[in-house]
Amino acid sequence: MASRGKWSSSIGFILAAAGSAIGIGNIWRFPYMTGKYGGAAFLFVYLAAVVLLGMPVLIAEIAMGRATGKNPVGAFKEFRPRGPWKLVGYLGVLAGVMILSYYSLISGWTLGYFFKTLSGALKNAGTAVTPGIFTAFAQNFWLQAFLLAAFLFITGYIVARGIANGIEKACKLLMPVLFVIMLILLVRSLTLPGAGKGLEFYLKPDFSQLTPRVIIDALGQAFFSLSLGMGAMITYGSYLKKEESIPAGAAWVAFLDTITAVMAGFIIFPALAAFGMSPEGGHPLVFHILPVIFDQMPFGTLFGMLFFLLLGVAALASTVSLLEVAAAYLIDERKWSRKKSVLTASGLSFLIGVPSILSFGNVDFFRRLPLVHISFFEMMDFVWGSLALSVGALFIAIFVGYVWKSSSALKEIRQGAKRFRYAWIWSFSVKYLCPLLIAATLFILFIG
Ligand code: PHE
Repeated sequence: MASRGKWSSSIGFILAAAGSAIGIGNIWRFPYMTGKYGGAAFLFVYLAAVVLLGMPVLIAEIAMGRATGKNPVGAFKEFRPRGPWKLVGYLGVLAGVMILSYYSLISGWTLGYFFKTLSGALKNAGTAVTPGIFTAFAQNFWLQAFLLAAFLFITGYIVARGIANGIEKACKLLMPVLFVIMLILLVRSLTLPGAGKGLEFYLKPDFSQLTPRVIIDALGQAFFSLSLGMGAMITYGSYLKKEESIPAGAAWVAFLDTITAVMAGFIIFPALAAFGMSPEGGHPLVFHILPVIFDQMPFGTLFGMLFFLLLGVAALASTVSLLEVAAAYLIDERKWSRKKSVLTASGLSFLIGVPSILSFGNVDFFRRLPLVHISFFEMMDFVWGSLALSVGALFIAIFVGYVWKSSSALKEIRQGAKRFRYAWIWSFSVKYLCPLLIAATLFILFIG
């Protein structure tokens, strides 16, 4: 979006926002977190977080963007030129660059697996060998650096030319195809012998599994998946016309995003159980199990290739939105050219991505950081993907609820949505529920 153009229609906005929301967060991050945190209990906290916190913050961000027509830093400055509030905007820009660094790495994996499926390297690869294939793949530093650079390059190219709506148009065509493939995979997975145990893991909650860490990651996942807490939706909202309905758009985005994640779970967990694999496979989880599912179905190679390719496209619509936040900030606030902004932000993401590559390689330091004993990659995903987005969402809710004031925000929302029936629920959530629940979780996490 080179100049401050507007989406040509509400479907344009929904596509862009859904394109940002739906990505590997749904198909890679959600299943591995659900697997790691004991299944159904995590799923339920995540779903509750989407409805109670995610939807309201989504509406708040879009409204802030549309009211100001600005990037996150500019939006906060518009309401409060002085004082610390603009720091929330800066945090968002920073979070965008940080998340982009490792998100693009995982997105690169989808390209790698596309070619692996094409070349037949995954043919007849059972559960005994897929983990080894993945490890060898992830440990190949130059290949990973190449895939990361390639993914960032494509993202940068799209953002630099201001043709982000090209990718959204492509999504309009391609995402329904991805959806259909997921439905087919779901049927295949659910009909595998022994799938029932996986369903039980996914759907029968054991709430004794819930710890502050699990809860903060579930909240973080809700924000991550909906692209909230860092201003991506403020930025996209800034391109939205006044006569479009914010609540309706937000409801569509949340629905499409959440259904995609839930479906991914219905594909992954039954298959894991059927093949006797542990749901606690960690980050590579879906790359361990998906090739095995493809192998168990007719035209598996074709489905596999299509799936990884389309997942790559879904990821691309998300990386475009991550980069667009930093680019919009540098262009609007620093008056940099679009090209320079994109080169700087994506170059930075590449550099920060390198230690994430090494987290899967042979360098012990990055595999297990001193003191925290997790890999650099895991540290990045927790600090930026879960914590920073939760903190960002917390401050956005407080800002909209008390500084901009929910009554003024409602005036903005009511333009284009005359009857916003859930207005009072929205105000209640932004003013009380979001601040209290997010702050309490963060508090317990750090004190407990
Ligand atoms: N929502 C994206 C996903 O689920 C990731 C993302 C997070 C994109 C934050 C933009 C901002 O894949």
